[in-house]
Amino acid sequence: MAEQILVTGGSGQLGRVVVERLRAAQAPVRALSRRRRRSSEGVEWTAGDLRTGRGIDVAVAGVGTVIHCATDYRREVETVRTLVEAARWSGQTPHLVYVSIVGVDKIPMGYYQAKLAAEKLIAGSGMPHTILRATQFHALVRTILAGAARLPVVPVPKFRFQPVDVRDVAARLVELAQGEPQGRVADFGGPAVRTTADLARALLAASGKDKRLVSVPAPGRIGRSYATGANLAPEHADGVVTFEQYLAEQGKPTALRYR
Ligand SMILES: NC(=O)c1ccc[n+]([C@@H]2O[C@H](COP(=O)([O-])OP(=O)(O)OC[C@H]3O[C@@H](n4cnc5c(N)ncnc54)[C@H](OP(=O)(O)O)[C@@H]3O)[C@@H](O)[C@H]2O)c1
Repeated sequence: MAEQILVTGGSGQLGRVVVERLRAAQAPVRALSRRRRRSSEGVEWTAGDLRTGRGIDVAVAGVGTVIHCATDYRREVETVRTLVEAARWSGQTPHLVYVSIVGVDKIPMGYYQAKLAAEKLIAGSGMPHTILRATQFHALVRTILAGAARLPVVPVPKFRFQPVDVRDVAARLVELAQGEPQGRVADFGGPAVRTTADLARALLAASGKDKRLVSVPAPGRIGRSYATGANLAPEHADGVVTFEQYLAEQGKPTALRYR
């Protein structure tokens, strides 16, 4: 029988789709959450906390691969270290697949710096691993723009996004998890690089609104690094689901199911 694949953050935005995709492929899945969740056919839920280490030894026991989709916005490095050490103690050397973000080495945001440090920790751990950096997910871009879209005149900073759908990222992660460890692989981006103005227009159109947009400078050091395109992977426009498709599916409960 095939070895189990552990998906950390199996309840999260990305992890949920990874679990669903693995289950559809009939791969034996174990999923980690801090909460106790009921196991179902094909998915064994295990409770554990990567911040405290509770239950992580049980979570990693006997698995051949870990797809690490959990994230702790304040303790990313510590939680990755907990996972790596638990895997070492288990006497296994599972293939660790880590999802990171395009531009973590260029954008001076605390969370990005922690993701970069986590990448380095994994690369130096001696564990077989694969690291995939993805561009911003559709939901994040929508959240960022939705705040501005509530104003009578919509401010749009002068930078671009390349939003990607979690289904596309999940498909790539599963493909990588089923292959040999490759270290850091090519970045994974959404289908198109688009200005914030263009994306804001798409968001307004999806909600039947028509408002004036006003271009504003990208604020601060972080804004300036976004303005240079450090968050983009134009040569890897691999995703297929567009921002408009994603917006059109919102509110339809079955829309995010595995396709
Ligand atoms: N959002 C983006 O635009 C974007 C872009 C590129 C890459 N990424 C990366 O993609 C990954 C997944 O992001 P996401 O947006 O899917 O995250 P998310 O929806 O916020 O999910 C985070 C998951 O982490 C789990 N978690 C949090 N703290 C934990 C802890 N201490 N111990 C165990 N589990 C814990 C949560 O599970 P429970 O609450 O069930 O415990 C939850 O399932 C992250 O590494 C992120 O950096 C995100």
